[in-house]
This record gives sequence, structure tokens and C-alpha cells, in this order.
Amino acid sequence: MVDLKQLASKYKTPLYLYDFTHMQAQYEQLKQAFSARKSLIAYAVKANSNLSVINHFAKMGSGADCVSIGEVKRALKAGVSKYKIIFSGVGKADEELEEALKEDILMINLESEAEMHRLEAIAQKMGKKARISIRVNPNIDPQTHPYISTGLHENKFGVEIDVAKKMYIHANASDHLDPVGIHFHIGSQLTELAPIKEAAGLVADLVRSLKAAVGVEIKFFDIGGGLGVIYKDETPIDPAKYAQVILDALEGQDLTIVCEPGRFLTANAGYFLTRVLYEKQNGSKRFVIVDGAMNDLLRPSLYNAYHKIETVEVEGEKTPANVVGPVCESGDFFGKEVELPPLEHNDLIVVRSTGAYGFTMASNYNTRVKPAEVALENGKDRLIRKRETFEELIADEEEFLQNV
Ligand code: LLP
Repeated sequence: MVDLKQLASKYKTPLYLYDFTHMQAQYEQLKQAFSARKSLIAYAVKANSNLSVINHFAKMGSGADCVSIGEVKRALKAGVSKYKIIFSGVGKADEELEEALKEDILMINLESEAEMHRLEAIAQKMGKKARISIRVNPNIDPQTHPYISTGLHENKFGVEIDVAKKMYIHANASDHLDPVGIHFHIGSQLTELAPIKEAAGLVADLVRSLKAAVGVEIKFFDIGGGLGVIYKDETPIDPAKYAQVILDALEGQDLTIVCEPGRFLTANAGYFLTRVLYEKQNGSKRFVIVDGAMNDLLRPSLYNAYHKIETVEVEGEKTPANVVGPVCESGDFFGKEVELPPLEHNDLIVVRSTGAYGFTMASNYNTRVKPAEVALENGKDRLIRKRETFEELIADEEEFLQNV
């Protein structure tokens, strides 16, 4: 393993570290699982959108699943081929649709009838034919945290199967829409295969009936992301079994499989390194206060998500402690009742599995600068985003300041 002490003094803390070799192994494992068919892995850049991370996957042949025009531009900048970029999302602004059309990306994933009509009008105005897919909401419970469940009618995502059918018929007859794909994504951190199998079966049946009944020829079968990872003691889905379920659902159909993993590719590549500021005892409660906070890593506060917390080269008898940050919120914690040895000022703590939805969900709350990001590859470390500065944080406001 790398020398965390040395990295902490070189780059300071709090700090995100990403093991690029692990990311590559994850990508290759998934790509291999789908080798029986044409497939495209479109990395869900929302999980970790550092340009160097996206570029790392682009070099392996990855596409990008994007949820804003900003993410589309990041993917392009990082070297992803435009014909491998998908633009999803439940609400896209006119300017975003226009820009996506201008960039001529692989497809725009539609999530409502209203959005289809908007895109059609924009494409007409621009004299273009928009390649689209439609996100089907199969009304299946993915058995995950309610905040990251997306495939039920009670969730805002996608359209019902009957509405999708209607949309495909309309799009197929339109001069400005080209229905090339179909999409579903039922949730994130999935550890059960059955809901994916059910959803894939339903959507594959829809593809068959669209072809037979209305002559719509779909080329891309986009199964979304969602593959879960081990944070604590979960049993994740085996990628080979995952792929088999999809291959079975598509039997007899000639489609390119697209999948959009985010967490699977990056979560366990990430380490969040933070230093102990102080220890304190409030009554019977032991607190370890560190220099990182919920603004840097939000998952524990937002989802009560578990992340393994370890010390670096500290010995001693372990007792339970809450590991908390300096932000002025009781919800600012990384772990509760974590067994830790006695800690001193400047001791190091690692929060694991933080390569997905870590930095991308960071904010400047409490006027805290966002941490630096470092890539680890072939025994070397390299800065891929520098720590923000206070001057950068206030730059957009300073010019409007009056009477000082
Ligand atoms: N495709 C679509 C359409 C998505 O909405 C998502 C994630 C993905 C792919 C990638 O899912 P993954 O493979 O990473 O599970 N912030 C939450 C996760 C939100 C996921 C949103 N959509 C968290 O920290 O757990």
C-alpha cells in the first residue's frame, strides 16, 4: 500500500486519493462479462467527474453517461468520443438540449412526453434529427435505500411502459427524432439480481413488441447503472451473473448492450484522508474531531451511509467514538460508534470506499475549500485537482462588493 503519511504531508488534508489501477480492473471485469455481445460501457460521470478520472476510462474505450450539459462537456473535454456520450436526466433545459444536438452525441435519453415534444421542436428549428432513447420506469422495487431507488412509479424518473410505446410510435414517424435506444435504471447500490432480471425482461419484451407491432428498430439496450459494491459486509452482484441475466433477456435480438456504472468502477478505488484535530468527551460520549467534514463527503450525513474508518499507524486499546467534522451541524459525521484507539492531534484517519459520490457531492458550506484529489497509478502519485483557495471561493462575489 502507499505511504499515506507521506501523501498527507505532501498534499495536506483533507484529501481524496484514487487508485487508478483498481478502476481499470473493475472496468475490465465488467467489459469482459459482456464479451458475448457488442457492448458499450458508458461511465456514469456523476460518480466521480474529475477530468483525469473520466480520461482514464475514456482511454480504455469507455463512453459517458451524463446528467447535465456540464457533464457532457466534461466528458468531451476528457476525451470521450461524442458517439459514446448519453445525456440523461429528468429535466433538461432548452439550452442543454440545443447544445447536446450541436455536439451530435450518441443519444439523448428522454424522460417525459413533454420533453420529447420540446426536443423535437428544437431539432426542427436546428434542422437536425435527434437520436433518442426513452427511459422506461418499469415499476420495480430495486430493494435499495429509498433515496437512490428510481424504478418505481412513485419515483420521478422515466415513463410508464404504455407511455413509452406511444412515444416510440410518435418518434418513429417524426422527421426530427430517431428512436435508437431504450433505457432503464431502477436504482443504485443494487445487491439483488432479481429486480434487474425482471426489469430487463419487461423492457426486452417492449423492444420485441415495438419491432413487431410498429416497426421501431431499437439498436441500444441501455440497462443503466446500479451495480452495488462492498462498503461493509454486502454481497455484491457478480458481474458475470449480471451480464448473463441481460443476455438471457435479449435472446434472439441483435442489440448493443449499454451499461452505465458509476459506483462499481470508482467507489472502492477512493480513500478520503483526514487528520485528527482533537479528541473530546461529552459526558459518556467520545468524539474524534477531524479536519474533513460533511461538505467534503456527504454520504454519511445524507444517507446514513456506512464507510469503513481506519487509523494510520496508531496503536492502543480501541473504544467507540463518533468521528465528526468541524461543520456546524449535528449531522456532520463520518461514522458513529467506531472502534478507535486513543488519537492525538495530527494522527491520520482514512475513510474508505469514497471514490464514488464523494468529491462530486462536495460543497463549500461554511466557506470551506474543496479538498485536493490525487491519482495513484503504477506506484506513483499525481495531483489531478488542486485544493481550492479562499480567494477562488470569493472571486465571483468580490467585484459586486460595495462601500468597503
Ligand atoms: N445511470 C443513471 C441514469 C443514473 O441515474 C445513475 C445514478 C447511474 C447510471 C449510476 O449509478 P451507479 O452505477 O453509480 O449506482 N449519490 C448517491 C447515488 C445516486 C445515484 C444517482 N444515479 C450515493 O451516494 O449513493
